[in-house]
Amino acid sequence: MPTKVILDVDTGTDDAVALMTAALSPDIELVGATTVNGNTTIDYTTENTLRVFDWIGMPQVPVYRGLDRPIVRSQVARGMATRIHGDLLDLPEVSHGATLQPGHAVDWLIETYLASDGDIVLCPVGPLTNIAMAIQKEPRIVDAIPEIVIMGGAHDHGNMTASAEFNIWLDPEAARIVVNCGRPIRMVPLDATHRALVSTEDAARLRALGTPAGEAAARFVLKRIDGYDATQPMPHRPGAAPVHDALAVCAIIDPTILTTDFIPVDVEVHAELSLGRTVCDFRFRSGKPANVHFATDADEPKFVRMLLEILGRTA
Ligand code: BDR
Ligand code: CA
Repeated sequence: MPTKVILDVDTGTDDAVALMTAALSPDIELVGATTVNGNTTIDYTTENTLRVFDWIGMPQVPVYRGLDRPIVRSQVARGMATRIHGDLLDLPEVSHGATLQPGHAVDWLIETYLASDGDIVLCPVGPLTNIAMAIQKEPRIVDAIPEIVIMGGAHDHGNMTASAEFNIWLDPEAARIVVNCGRPIRMVPLDATHRALVSTEDAARLRALGTPAGEAAARFVLKRIDGYDATQPMPHRPGAAPVHDALAVCAIIDPTILTTDFIPVDVEVHAELSLGRTVCDFRFRSGKPANVHFATDADEPKFVRMLLEILGRTA
């Protein structure tokens, strides 16, 4: 039986690969996608999401527009995000019928979880604004979420600041609410995504698949490599880049792709220098119980194999 999944996205280049992987994997039933402000504004992240489903011939996947700003702050993407994602993805305008659903993403999340059998995995791969807002608005949804698989966080090094990862940094209060919501959480941080890079050669293999998803993934991976090489090259690996959000989707399909530690994790919301840091209590100094399966490593060959297999499919 495929696993039911809802993806919450700020589509961007790696979100796009995650969406295609979830939509085309026979092991996932993609219930829908909700969009959020993040890599770019909500108008673009929503339009990009529709274009992705339209491009791969799956215009029927429901897309709901979510919040256009963090719940407390006014952080916006800048610099790095622009170079690695741009605003509009390099895909044609919608022509196969992908349309935005009426209603707000937060309300749809609430309705969908309350009506569910508790079997829909939630996979946020952008700032956690929509998810925190849904939990605050209707706390009963929490018990209906079997697992939250989050792309976000960082222990060893940040990407937005020295110590914070972008998704958590952009809306740290939201992340704090979600991380402490009491449900099983798997976190796919930079510590893992930077261990599973996709290379220029892999992009050529994706393109050679000859499928719409393979072509789009190749395009986005190459854009990412260009952006990473220019702004934050991977140590000893020029010509390769992380595709963060797709790793979170692959971890739902095959959890063995990650190495995880079950530890207490919280989010710094008061700091001057480390706002949005995921504070990882690997030695249990806080006395708090473990709440997060925090990934510290990932299997790069398996990740690339999975992308090539899944993105070689058509709708
Ligand atoms: C995360 O930030 C975004 O730029 C990516 O889409 C990914 O979700 C990585 O820090
Ligand atoms: Ca993202």
